[in-house]
Amino acid sequence: MKKKNRDEEGASQGVATAEKNVSLTVNGKRHELLVGKDVNPEHTLAHTLRETLGYTGTKIACDHGSCGACTVLMDGEAVLSCMTLTVECDGKNITTIEGLENAKTRELHPLQQAFIDNTAFQCGFCTPGIILSAKAMLDKNPSPTEEEIKQELAGHYCRCGSQYLVIKAILALVGKGGDLSERAI
Ligand code: FES
Ligand code: FES
Repeated sequence: MKKKNRDEEGASQGVATAEKNVSLTVNGKRHELLVGKDVNPEHTLAHTLRETLGYTGTKIACDHGSCGACTVLMDGEAVLSCMTLTVECDGKNITTIEGLENAKTRELHPLQQAFIDNTAFQCGFCTPGIILSAKAMLDKNPSPTEEEIKQELAGHYCRCGSQYLVIKAILALVGKGGDLSERAI
């Protein structure tokens, strides 16, 4: 997972100023946000997604970049939305958990289905972020090893002990079987 520091000044590309709106495409739908009205300079992407745009599938737990619950995809990369300022996201394509289902058939993404089939969560609060990190990984590496899955998901903290079932679900999806003992990420 790619971590960003909220304090890193986004002086480069994609930073909206007070004179410039933030244009965000979320799950294929474009949103124009007025700086100072819809979004304040200190608003995080997690806040904007949940509170302004209603994508509440994105969860906020620690709100300090430590747990991975707020992970979304930005231009295909997994990022911590609680550590990303919305004004840094002008022109970006964001995918939240709501964007994974098939828009026409409303069927779940195979990764979502694999998590259900393998009971890879209990409370489910951290699951959207884990699934999105797993998607970013599989888009680049369609056949990861158990070790690669563990490395990629190491920044996610699931407190209920479902970690080994997460690995099982992903291995089952990529056709490597998921017959794991109770080994944690
Ligand atoms: S809520 Fe963003 S990392 Fe925990
Ligand atoms: S699924 Fe929420 S703590 Fe494990």
